[in-house]
Amino acid sequence: MSIRILATSPLVGPYIGNLGLRFPELCVVPFRSPAWTAGLATAEALVVLLSEPLTEADLELCPNLKVIGTYSVGINHLPSAYCQQRGIRIVNTPGVLTDATADLALTLLLALTRRVSEGEALVRSGQWKGWATDLLLGAGLSGKTCGILGSGPIGRAFARRAWAIGMKVFFWDREGNQSPVDFGVDIAPRLLLDDLLRQSSVLSLHCPLTDSTRGLLSREKLALLPRGAFLINTARGGIFDEEAAMDLLNQEKIGGIGLDVFENEPALNPKWLEAPRTVLLPHLGSATVETREAMSKLLCDGIEESLRGASE
Ligand code: DGY
Repeated sequence: MSIRILATSPLVGPYIGNLGLRFPELCVVPFRSPAWTAGLATAEALVVLLSEPLTEADLELCPNLKVIGTYSVGINHLPSAYCQQRGIRIVNTPGVLTDATADLALTLLLALTRRVSEGEALVRSGQWKGWATDLLLGAGLSGKTCGILGSGPIGRAFARRAWAIGMKVFFWDREGNQSPVDFGVDIAPRLLLDDLLRQSSVLSLHCPLTDSTRGLLSREKLALLPRGAFLINTARGGIFDEEAAMDLLNQEKIGGIGLDVFENEPALNPKWLEAPRTVLLPHLGSATVETREAMSKLLCDGIEESLRGASE
């Protein structure tokens, strides 16, 4: 039986199994295994993870391909322009991971500013000598300014959280979208990027990685942040210059960095492991059971709809 749906993972929940009941020509094999490569010849649908980049050369081997499903909202690992030319639909998972990712950005911010990792390490080491007036003093956030890069759903969900802990919120995005005010406070009008950076005690990144955002926060741009600012990234590595950020961190110009994503992940720049005042997570933005199940459902529904639509 020739393969119609070629997936690399069973995903979370029953949805890919259910899809297999409707399309028995579904096959789950490891990415880039010999079986995966062989399946490209007949595949009408590919299902990949955000860590499995597809190239134009891969897709040239798929003459029947109608749809690519990615278990992520980000699509920077797919050759979108090429897919558009060939009429290959891309199904991703917007909407259902908005809250989970914004929660994780807030988690990073609070863990960083309240020195949660250091506190926990102290307790676990058995070295804690008791309450002290100056033990692990962190930074308060209420009344400070939070700059948000990207005014899409995740940026806005993070804005609501930042506002709820008393921060002043500003957005910036390259397209110049005006951000709807949907949580009862006035958001300052959109600023120029340099102005946003100059004012941001906290800068949180919520834009996709595209040709126009890759390297957007260069050494010069990062240097505009006020002394002691905190940088949070749950979007994609590659948006800011990691070496420059580490230099500014070591010089104490940046107060701390919280990262869930890295350029070239999971192969981190080893300097991150030595860097002071950082909280580093292994790309957990969407990692709740509820979210991953909702992502599976959305993705499998989209694949089914694409295949049924194509055969009608
Ligand atoms: C995505 O789905 O693109 C996010 O990076 C998950 O954290």
